[in-house]
Amino acid sequence: MAKKKKKIGIGVIGTGGIANGAHLPGYSAIPDMCEIVALCDIDPAALKRTAEKYNVKNTFEDYKDLLAMEEVDAVSVCTPNYVHMDPTVLALKAGKHVICEKPIAMNAAEAKLMVDASKKAKKILQIGYCSRFSRSNQLLKKYIDNGELGDIYWARAQSLRRRGIPGWGVFIDKSKQGGGPLIDIGVHILDLTLWMMGHPKPIAASGVTYAKFGKRSDIVGFMGQWDYKNFTVEDFASAIIRLDNGAAIMLESSFVANIPEEVHNSTLCGTEGGAITNPLTIVKEKLGSLQTFKPEYPGGDINVYHAEIKDFVECILHDKEPLVTGEQGMMVAQCMDAIYASAEAGCEVKID
Ligand SMILES: NC(=O)c1ccc[n+]([C@@H]2O[C@H](COP(=O)([O-])OP(=O)(O)OC[C@H]3O[C@@H](n4cnc5c(N)ncnc54)[C@H](O)[C@@H]3O)[C@@H](O)[C@H]2O)c1
Repeated sequence: MAKKKKKIGIGVIGTGGIANGAHLPGYSAIPDMCEIVALCDIDPAALKRTAEKYNVKNTFEDYKDLLAMEEVDAVSVCTPNYVHMDPTVLALKAGKHVICEKPIAMNAAEAKLMVDASKKAKKILQIGYCSRFSRSNQLLKKYIDNGELGDIYWARAQSLRRRGIPGWGVFIDKSKQGGGPLIDIGVHILDLTLWMMGHPKPIAASGVTYAKFGKRSDIVGFMGQWDYKNFTVEDFASAIIRLDNGAAIMLESSFVANIPEEVHNSTLCGTEGGAITNPLTIVKEKLGSLQTFKPEYPGGDINVYHAEIKDFVECILHDKEPLVTGEQGMMVAQCMDAIYASAEAGCEVKID
């Protein structure tokens, strides 16, 4: 009789918003494939609350103790950006697979250490770019892979909040977060756009960043009240990124902007068609006319976080490459580095 494959033992480092809102419910939804065996947080109250909710007995305030557990086969890194690289590299060195939240790290140098550690250990490093898993984005990718858009030569990636400075966590602290909306939400739409375009290599970026609102006390907050005296990141960023196939991406992201509505969308312009991702709309010329249509599919949308976590566990169980790889996460980090450097220098910056 074939030996039954054991369940994957999961450890979660950081038990805040994304762990409770995405990773832990995601693992709990597939109890036949995995079991949450350990949790870690430096905040004892958050740790206790989460351990009680998910009935997890092993809790640690130091992630090295969690990584020492043999029962832990795989780890979710759900800590703030400045605590992505260390636990990920140590987990990979300890022989664990890792799904690390986005952005991969504070910068591309850290990202490279993570990717190298994953290659050396021959363990999975997946990054939390969950938007790729939505049904509409999966469908658009099928259209693109089928040649329906032809050669995509230009894209506009926008993630624009009107009044959305997070009032919790470390999202306004450059030393712990690496930047503002660009590295927090801009990375999601940039990753999605690069994926849709087939990951041509970014070769240069020219960017601008502004901090016009975050330091002011008179600006309303739709995502809680932040500490305006300690706001050290940008609140708006825009860049043009050149790609090695001659294509380009115009990227825009904001926590605050005086615009009539929020925009979270990628616009893709190809030689045989175009598309926007949100709501999925495709444009094509046919029989001397221009068609603009919204593809419909049965079953509605899915929980992208559950899909992402299931993909991670399935990749471990079946020795597959994840949809979102460490290398692709590093590509986004290289763009972030170049955009911030370009904004500082006031000129285009090359990406090696
Ligand atoms: N994929 C998404 O859509 C998405 C959404 C939200 C957040 N995120 C990412 O998830 C990460 C965490 O964000 P969040 O909103 O959950 O933040 P959060 O502040 O709610 O939670 C972070 C938790 O990590 C803990 N922590 C900090 N340092 C630690 C350490 N050294 N060891 C163990 N625990 C530590 C904190 O105490 C806190 O409980 C960020 O990188 C963020 O970009 C991704």
